[in-house]
Amino acid sequence: MTSTIAVTRWIPDEALKVLAEAGEVKLSRADRPLTPDELREFVRGASAIVGMLHDRIDGAVADAAGPELKVVANVAVGHDNIDVPALAGRGVTVTNTPGVLTDATADLAFGLILAVTRRLGEGERLIRSRTPWSFHLGFLLGSSLQDKTLGIVGLGQIGQAVARRALGFGMRIVYSGRSRAAEDVEKALGAEYVPFEELLARSDVVSLHCPLTPETRHLVDADALRSMKPGACLINTTRGPVVHEAALADALEAGEIAGAGLDVFEAEPEVEPRLLDRENVVLTPHLGSATVETRTAMAVLAAENVASVLTGGNPLTEVRP
Ligand code: GLV
Ligand code: GLV
Repeated sequence: MTSTIAVTRWIPDEALKVLAEAGEVKLSRADRPLTPDELREFVRGASAIVGMLHDRIDGAVADAAGPELKVVANVAVGHDNIDVPALAGRGVTVTNTPGVLTDATADLAFGLILAVTRRLGEGERLIRSRTPWSFHLGFLLGSSLQDKTLGIVGLGQIGQAVARRALGFGMRIVYSGRSRAAEDVEKALGAEYVPFEELLARSDVVSLHCPLTPETRHLVDADALRSMKPGACLINTTRGPVVHEAALADALEAGEIAGAGLDVFEAEPEVEPRLLDRENVVLTPHLGSATVETRTAMAVLAAENVASVLTGGNPLTEVRP
């Protein structure tokens, strides 16, 4: 019997080709996320699910798929949308896509850092609104990055890639996180490991690169924002719920911090309405990994994980409970 591989949303042809060798591909044609009911119906009888970060895949979805289900491949490095222990308990392997999106995400994070500190969004909106303007020495001044301190929360692969870029801009690097990086990594980046509180107090730019877990949900809350420098900005390219979005709007309104660059949102795709009206906030629609090269590599890696597990091999990039 051929295996059914349920793919919950469009993926590149390169990945479909890999999947077609491993089973019969069933592709959702909906140009939107499937609802929870639709998802359970869609995966019925599947041996593999290739899912997106907007799909909540838990024990109920695995049960709806049935006893044939062997592998769930998330086309994302983050896997907070998957109940890994529940799937492991049912003998289902979970995989993600680490490594292949590191540079693309770090590039986007740095783009947001520059956009916020150099007021690119404001400048763009000003020109497009056809407002008359002329160069003068005090016009739309931002702040420079040289000799400023970048605080990286979570010095994993992506955090390290952001740090490498920051070195090129002449920034100093402090970092916090659950675990300390290896000594050679610290040395190469000149990165100083500090408690989260100290990172907030010292950084001119705080960039979040920790995964979303119960420990990091609302890590950046009203207290944390109050601990930041008034001239500092917050960059979030990981997962929205790491930041308490209403508290961020409060902090920006109160002038407790100077700006924010957000690629992810607490109730994605909804955005706290008060952020939409603020000039000192730059907003992008979850574009961290959004290059042709990176998205193709992510989908192919997910497909290779599926193909390997369905043919009795080991997953390439497994998420362990
Ligand atoms: C994107 O957000 C990812 O986790 O890959
Ligand atoms: C995950 O966020 C990583 O650092 O690769």
